[in-house]
Amino acid sequence: MTARDGDTLVATFGSFPFETTIPGGQLPTSGVTGVAILPTHRRRGITRRLMVEHFADCLERGEPLASLWASEAVIYGRFGYGLATRQHDLKLTVRPGMFVGAPASGHEFRLVERDEALRIFPGLFDVERQRRPGMFTRDDAWWELLFSDPPDRREGWSAHRRLVASVDGVDVGYAIFRAKWNDQGRQIVRLSEAFGADDTSERAVWQFLTEIDLVDEVVNWNDPIDRPFDWWLSDPRLAARKVSDALYLRLVDVRAALQERSYQRDGTVTLAVADPVCPWNEKTYRLTVSAGRGLCDLVDNDPDVWIDVAALASAYLGDRSPFELARVGRVTGNTEAISLLGDMLRSDVAAYCQEMF
Ligand SMILES: CC(C)(COP(=O)(O)OP(=O)(O)OC[C@H]1O[C@@H](n2cnc3c(N)ncnc32)[C@H](O)[C@@H]1OP(=O)(O)O)[C@@H](O)C(=O)NCCC(=O)NCCS
Repeated sequence: MTARDGDTLVATFGSFPFETTIPGGQLPTSGVTGVAILPTHRRRGITRRLMVEHFADCLERGEPLASLWASEAVIYGRFGYGLATRQHDLKLTVRPGMFVGAPASGHEFRLVERDEALRIFPGLFDVERQRRPGMFTRDDAWWELLFSDPPDRREGWSAHRRLVASVDGVDVGYAIFRAKWNDQGRQIVRLSEAFGADDTSERAVWQFLTEIDLVDEVVNWNDPIDRPFDWWLSDPRLAARKVSDALYLRLVDVRAALQERSYQRDGTVTLAVADPVCPWNEKTYRLTVSAGRGLCDLVDNDPDVWIDVAALASAYLGDRSPFELARVGRVTGNTEAISLLGDMLRSDVAAYCQEMF
């Protein structure tokens, strides 16, 4: 979408159509990007107007979710976006023998060229994507873009290195990284991403990266918050982790969103949702979960729980509990129902979004 003032283009507002993993499935999502207003036209309500129009478009296109990474965290809450995933900015100090126990046996490693990586990585990425709420699908064009590596944009880092781990000839993990020399004539490895098809392979990839000769540090600005360094490493302090906000999520269609995800506990909770920006969501929902799947009816009776749509988005992928949100007044109501809702919405795998868009 764009906005014009006469012949002048004054605002842009873009979105990618992709699927976001939610507990127990995935949902069509509008991934918002390129929101920008000319400095001459800021603070006149143009973004607000484009945003409201965009939500109506999402509803029409059948996209129950919208998501974005915010350049400034203060902007999007007013539009009903809630912080739904967090990230660790990771700095791993390398020491010999830092991993507890023997290395996984049977893993072999090789570096591959771009074309081979393009054949192998998407399948392995998809294994991780399907199990981790907040990740989104990549099409071929996205992978091409990910692998584009123009020398003038490397800022002193090496070209991409593409690592594959395999067991008995089956590929089970990968990493994309760069390296750079530090002042001590040793190297820093900077990850773009590293995933394994199973826990053992994930650890094997990480251990391999720390055992490359002359490497002092492995860094990753966007690491999942449940990467098990506290258990992998004999000294967890070697993994310095700074937590920050990552993906912001908007439930554009609350009923569809509640009905499509799976739940960790059966039960019934009636919740009233406040959503002044998308009034079609401002209803009372009776969420009945049976065998882990939810049925969501609109009802007139008194709710057990009151929640605003941004707070619901923060709890939706399992990152934040309604109990925590109740402590700051974002959720109110019956304590037992809040606790039950928390048990229902929990996710064993931490929510995470693999990249900024
Ligand atoms: C951020 C930006 C898109 C806002 O556009 P805008 O047309 O000025 O926004 P609006 O006038 O519609 O303001 C909408 C609301 O957001 C608030 N807001 C907008 N930008 C804000 C900012 N940077 N900090 C705090 N609040 C902000 C406004 O005060 C207004 O609040 P209200 O409706 O509650 O009164 C624009 O300033 C811009 O292009 N900035 C540079 C690019 C950028 O940061 N893009 C965001 C990418 S994630």
